Amino acid sequence: MDLEARFGAHNYHPLPVVLERGEGVMVWDVEGKAYFDFLSAYSAVNQGHGHPRIVGALVDQAQTLALTSRAFYNAQLGPFEEAITARFGYDKVLAMNSGAEAVETAIKLCRRWAYDVKGIPANQAKIIVCGENFHGRTSTIVSFSSDPDSYAGFGPYMPGFERIPYNDIPALEKALQDPHVAGFLVEPIQGEAGVVVPDGTYISEAAALCRAHQVLWMADEIQTGIGRTGSWLATCGDCGCQTGRCERNPETYSRADILILGKALSGGVYPVSAVLADDAIMLTIKPGQHGSTFGGNPIAAKVAQAALAVMEDEELMLNARERGVQFREGLAQRIGTLKLVQGIRGKGLLNAVLINDSPESSTAWDLCIALRDAGILAKPTHGNIIRFAPPLVITEAQMEEALNRMEKVFTRFEQTR
Ligand SMILES: Cc1ncc(COP(=O)(O)O)c(C=O)c1O
Repeated sequence: MDLEARFGAHNYHPLPVVLERGEGVMVWDVEGKAYFDFLSAYSAVNQGHGHPRIVGALVDQAQTLALTSRAFYNAQLGPFEEAITARFGYDKVLAMNSGAEAVETAIKLCRRWAYDVKGIPANQAKIIVCGENFHGRTSTIVSFSSDPDSYAGFGPYMPGFERIPYNDIPALEKALQDPHVAGFLVEPIQGEAGVVVPDGTYISEAAALCRAHQVLWMADEIQTGIGRTGSWLATCGDCGCQTGRCERNPETYSRADILILGKALSGGVYPVSAVLADDAIMLTIKPGQHGSTFGGNPIAAKVAQAALAVMEDEELMLNARERGVQFREGLAQRIGTLKLVQGIRGKGLLNAVLINDSPESSTAWDLCIALRDAGILAKPTHGNIIRFAPPLVITEAQMEEALNRMEKVFTRFEQTR
């Protein structure tokens, strides 16, 4: 911690715990103390720490061929592209590395489509985004953030974005009246804002409105996707088919025109992100017009194939569904009546506890320190909200044990306040 403080940029405020090892749901610090990981690296480690199949793919490919750049073909990218497009039912995929890069890719793709296909005059394309959004940290993305921590002091800002309130269909309808609107970029559940779950019909109504106005609806499923909320995608309907394409009940599926994935696409062992779209959109970008040295590299492609296979073979989205209900019901039973707790919300294993204090208070942070001491790692999102998002491999017994520990921490905290 001292070395990081002295030699590292101070762009994070980590919880004071130094982790050395992980396996499944558990992580261990340098002194050998074990913790339940209830953050999963912001939902990147859905398949659990050190999953042998995913780590095996990483090691195997690293020893075989790590990087070729896209100047040449590599033997892993094609099979990965086939697997992911089949999984989510799109014509094409474009592989990148970080989530922010995938969002940037989606923005460029949307603009290019706007000029080449929709016929919006040059440099006039507009993208609608939501208040309290979180899509990453690049200079373009922070240009449309409503969080001063993200944007303040980083101007001048990229034009061409309009922010409307989240979960507000009339506001979207109004914004869509402008014929220069090319796209609507939205998180199906706002993770960083504090696990804000919109009304049940918000996403499907928004998707239908976009379709009616010839506007691309772009789903940022970087945090919500890959099983986190109990389905392959949070935008899946609740048909339960677990294919990622809502085969049983397609009308409940708000299929995005541009789907953005990251984080758990690699099980958290390597940065892999991806943008999926059909040919009419994806093929507007031609050779030389977008790319990345590492995007779609052999290790990334092999690791992502393994990470997707693990999700499917271990039916982790089903476990996320069941353990999510256990978490919300179990926690409500144990701490729901405490004055400290204002609410418990979420979907699947993306959940949050709302703390009864101001967003500026240190209560959520202090609780996270007390949870750490009890062997549970979680982090406040904004001020008075704590997110709980364990790896999706968590068992019923592990969840029960974690809930019991949380009950003790919250109850003791309330008594000593
Ligand atoms: C919804 C969403 N979009 C984009 C990002 C950015 O991803 P990355 O940190 O990999 O750039 C995040 C990261 O938390 C996210 O939650």
